[in-house]
Amino acid sequence: PGAAGTTRAIERLGIPNTVVADGPAGLRINPTREGTFDTYYCTGFPVGTAIASSWDVALVEHMTKAMGNEVLEYGADVLLAPGMNIHRNPLCGRNFEYFSEDPLLSGKIAAAYVRGIQSNGVGTSIKHFAANNQETNRSDNDAVISTRALREIYLKNFEIAVRESSPWTVMSSYNKINGAFAQQSEDLLTKVLRDDWGYKGIVMTDWGNKAGTLAAVHAGNDLMEPGSDEEIARIVKGVQDGKLSEADLDRNVRNMLEYIVRTPRFNKYKYSDKPDLKAHAKAARSAATESMVLLKNDGSLPMKDVRKVALFGVSSVDFVAGGTGSGNVNKAYVVDMVQGLENAGFILDEDLKDFYKKYVDYVRVNRTASNEASTVMLGEAKVPEAELSRVYVDAQVKDNDAAIVILGRNSGEGADRKTENDFDLSSAERQLLSDVCNAFHLAGKKVIVVLNIGGVIETDSWKNLPDAILCAWQPGQEGGDAIADVLTGKVNPSGKLPMTFPIAFLDHPSSYNFPLGNEPKSNPFAAFFGGKSAPVKNVDFTNYEEGIWVGYRQFETKGVEVSYPFGYGLSYTSFSYSKPVVKAGKDGGITASVTVTNNGSVAGKEVVQIYVSAPVGGLEKPKMELKSFGKTGLLAPGASEVLTFEVSAYELASFNEKANQWETAAGTYDVLFGASVQDIRCSGKAVLKKPVTFAVSYAWL
Ligand code: GLC
Repeated sequence: PGAAGTTRAIERLGIPNTVVADGPAGLRINPTREGTFDTYYCTGFPVGTAIASSWDVALVEHMTKAMGNEVLEYGADVLLAPGMNIHRNPLCGRNFEYFSEDPLLSGKIAAAYVRGIQSNGVGTSIKHFAANNQETNRSDNDAVISTRALREIYLKNFEIAVRESSPWTVMSSYNKINGAFAQQSEDLLTKVLRDDWGYKGIVMTDWGNKAGTLAAVHAGNDLMEPGSDEEIARIVKGVQDGKLSEADLDRNVRNMLEYIVRTPRFNKYKYSDKPDLKAHAKAARSAATESMVLLKNDGSLPMKDVRKVALFGVSSVDFVAGGTGSGNVNKAYVVDMVQGLENAGFILDEDLKDFYKKYVDYVRVNRTASNEASTVMLGEAKVPEAELSRVYVDAQVKDNDAAIVILGRNSGEGADRKTENDFDLSSAERQLLSDVCNAFHLAGKKVIVVLNIGGVIETDSWKNLPDAILCAWQPGQEGGDAIADVLTGKVNPSGKLPMTFPIAFLDHPSSYNFPLGNEPKSNPFAAFFGGKSAPVKNVDFTNYEEGIWVGYRQFETKGVEVSYPFGYGLSYTSFSYSKPVVKAGKDGGITASVTVTNNGSVAGKEVVQIYVSAPVGGLEKPKMELKSFGKTGLLAPGASEVLTFEVSAYELASFNEKANQWETAAGTYDVLFGASVQDIRCSGKAVLKKPVTFAVSYAWL
């Protein structure tokens, strides 16, 4: 009960129904059932963007091994995850579920996620295939994208996941791509997914019932979810009328049977309904701490000689463990910021704590009466920040050793974010931040900001105010404890940004083709077009005019200043890179290695990013592109570790639309060892003597 859907049983053939359930931050089923006092809570893990910030494929695989055990032990067969669409623009409402602006990082994290889940003998569904990069009019929006941008950016992460983790299922997205619904596109579901990439599993639709069922079956969409008698009737009639070839149907049926016979349900697995939630909570907590990104630290962190803390911000109690929509998990509890700090032994200012508790309760109760949008799909809208008087803030200084200000954001399925009071801070938040900083700094006391967000917000205009900033993301049910683990230094933060924090929203070229305020569904002046409503930009169609220039590819190539760059993240220690070795590999690829040394005073982990600058000439390319990455183990002060990297000739290739092939040019490649895309510590060169090309199975578009 509470799962998203099933496949249908066919008793006479001994085919059971199988169960598919959401979601990316943990299994989503009803926590209680009729007629029993048993409970069926699931673990709320950190959201996709958080775990991608760990840049640690081993950690992701370990965490999702635990998550997948809950899928198995609660009797489901497929987890409808990971969500892995590219962060084309900061305002996409579901970015929290997705991983990165970069296809390599996104694909590698997704592959690790799939391997972890599937190690339990249950399936996954990489979604939403493809180019579902906005929520506005998601069911009908037509993503208009160049072939090169599709191949290099929007399909590349799915390709990596398919090739490196063999997901049991793929979920075709609601939207269109260049005029054809993804679920009805033979190019996408057969020629790219199967012919090009060798995919062997099934494709299911996202949750709807589009008229083009016959086209979907023909295209290679094997399963209609949630499924309806209407779609069955269309298929039967289609075959009878000769509009749908039985061969297509047989192919899909075979795919379905090959899926069904591998499910725990078909194999009569005796699930316990009693997964080890305590052990999984530990996995969720450690994944959360490994995912946090330290953006600023003047030395205030880890917090020493701090006993009494003034904790400001409604998100201290209106804490965001995860986003809303189908990605929301029915958790037994959430450790919020208040509980996390108190569990760690801090004494929180009682008056402040009491105020926020009452304020949040008051708003929650009263907003159902008001017309304020308090309901979002499967979740609750954020409580807006409370306005405190300066006098009241001043009064918090004397009894407290330091201040923490937590800023939270929520978003989710069914709606995109906005710039006002969302990407940008609200005036109440801005006022609170400046008042707290002024008041506590006057007394020589420190102020730490904690970002409890699911996606990028504006930071440049205020980051100079506090002494430290920790981006904790939406860290799952153990969030408060995980944040305290990092603030106290129990865990040294090692996360790095999986996307750019720009100075301004409009610095992203995609922002000129994004539904800013959830534009109206259809053209209000339709009557003037003789009843035909002219297509509305960013609603009926979205022009991916920026092409491959997404995120750091744009900012680094065009020299656009950013607030925090891709791959950025501080530590409580520092690392040096030495002895870079770069060689041309045998197959025309590149091998590289580097020694990382912890030259600080506390143990820590370092993420090394390998960026490659291709030789100039031929296709226009970004100044550099991420081609590999690795993370050290926990290095003690003074310890070193050698990290090695392999980049194949194919991974170096760019897509030539005219020739309709992948091309790796001959010439000298610069290999950059980065602590972020802007913090290049050392580099090397590799000469590829001859060009290499890789054909694709057909000309698309
Ligand atoms: C929703 C979402 C998808 C989810 C499915 C089942 O519409 O787009 O991510 O898995 O339906 O709930």
